[in-house]
Amino acid sequence: FKLHLFKTNFCLSFFRFAVSANEETQLIADKFKKYNKNIRPARHPDEKVKVQVKLTLTNLISLNEKEETLTTNVWIEIQWHDYRLAWNTSEYHGIDLIRVPYNTVWLPDIVLENNIDGKFDVAYYANVLISSDGSMYWLPPAIYRSTCAIEITYFPFDWQNCTLVFRSQTYSAKEIDMVLAEDADTGKPIEWVDIDPEAFTENGEWAIKHRPARKLTNSRYSPDDLEFQEVYFNLIIQRKPLFYIINIILPCSLISSLVVLAFFLPAKAGGQKLTVSISVLLAQTVFLFLIAQKIPETSLSVPLIGKYLIFVMCMTTLIVTNCIIVLNFSLRSPSTHNMSHTIRHIFLEVVPRFLGMTSFLDEEEPGSGPYEMRERRRSSFGLMQRAEEYVLKQPRSEMMFDKQRERHGLMRSIGNTNSNIHLLYLNTANLYKSLAKTAPEIKECVDACNFIAESTKQQNDIGSEMESWVLIGKMIDKVCFWAAILLFSVGTVAIFLMGHYNQAPDYPFPWENKKYLPE
Ligand SMILES: *[C@@H]1O[C@H](CO)[C@@H](O)[C@H](O)[C@H]1NC(C)=O
Ligand SMILES: *[C@@H]1O[C@H](CO)[C@@H](O)[C@H](O)[C@H]1NC(C)=O
Repeated sequence: FKLHLFKTNFCLSFFRFAVSANEETQLIADKFKKYNKNIRPARHPDEKVKVQVKLTLTNLISLNEKEETLTTNVWIEIQWHDYRLAWNTSEYHGIDLIRVPYNTVWLPDIVLENNIDGKFDVAYYANVLISSDGSMYWLPPAIYRSTCAIEITYFPFDWQNCTLVFRSQTYSAKEIDMVLAEDADTGKPIEWVDIDPEAFTENGEWAIKHRPARKLTNSRYSPDDLEFQEVYFNLIIQRKPLFYIINIILPCSLISSLVVLAFFLPAKAGGQKLTVSISVLLAQTVFLFLIAQKIPETSLSVPLIGKYLIFVMCMTTLIVTNCIIVLNFSLRSPSTHNMSHTIRHIFLEVVPRFLGMTSFLDEEEPGSGPYEMRERRRSSFGLMQRAEEYVLKQPRSEMMFDKQRERHGLMRSIGNTNSNIHLLYLNTANLYKSLAKTAPEIKECVDACNFIAESTKQQNDIGSEMESWVLIGKMIDKVCFWAAILLFSVGTVAIFLMGHYNQAPDYPFPWENKKYLPE
């Protein structure tokens, strides 16, 4: 609003200048005849010149995290009183305002103290407005690059506290009194950085939360020191994290979550399991690199997103290790490793039961309740085992001749009772002996058959033990899959909740419940 007023004023006075050129020439000639701009506008040495300062923010251009620099576009409004330049309006045809170049009048020499590029001064040296009562008004625009200590712990869910410090570069507190500008209507000091909604351009990355202004007197210094009085303008800004969420966090989480798919690859896929997890590890390194480029090279703290990346990289590394262990287990064979009873017990009984799966060895059959299935499996398993025992106890040859015996009427009811079986043993042994005597070819043939059966059984044993190893690998995979899913979700949620709750404080100064804003 003030800026607009300033512009309209400017236009109006331009017209007036055209009609009242002579009068103004006269006024300026009169006023500057004996004026010395090097002399402070004080009537006597003890008098302090009151200098009012106000900052209007038109654009928060950027905050460079790496260089820890805040770039702002501001208007710095400086007002003071120079009694030597006052005049009686009626003596000069009603002229009540003149403007003169900045280098023709005394200036309080106020500079941005915490600049970073050696540019203490303003960008454009506007004219100084002089009212008839001697009030001086100077409103130069400036683009300031100021230092701002970046707190990266919560990057990219962080808020920053940047300060613009102004002080007079030549005049001490005994010569000038720097204060915040007073509001024209209420007469109260303007304790905030002014933002004109019409002239202000919103920054895409930063939201301004607080913008207090204060005059500070540093009691560590004496009033003779230039550091004694300073005007502080704070900007407490909160980052809008959407950009980082879309461009870094989301892709990184998605890629990282792919790593759990390595658990679903069968051990037969071999190296593929490793390829998946190591590719993810490489992708994460790229993200880490991207972030390292953005944040300042400080070892004081680790940004939140860095912690997250380290976390997922550790997880991926663990998964790579896990894959190798699983491959090692799955590809074992009885000739290289002995399966101890404990291992078999833990991985084929305890772990499956813990995971809510049915008994070990066989794949579950879908479509039946777990309890029933286990029962049935157990009974059928037991039955099978008993049958197997029976078959093993019985000499093979005997089985071969079972049918024959029946046919020859040597035995009518087989296996009815145990005593029968005993009898049977005797009978068949005799038969076998007599057969061996009469027809040795048959005996050889029977022996060969026995040998084949034996080796097939051995092969089956080897096969089933190898299968057990594969099952053990599968069990490890299953356990680690759930562990990884749990860890990944808990870690991700915890880290980003931490970021979510890192909001700028309600008040700009922790010790004061005051908003420092216009009512
Ligand atoms: C201004 O000048 C007029 C006319 O010369 C005079 O009457 C008036 O008192 C002066 N005002 C001041 C404040 O000196
Ligand atoms: C911001 O920094 C100023 C120092 O320039 C400090 O006094 C103030 O307490 C800080 N504000 C917050 C919220 O930390």
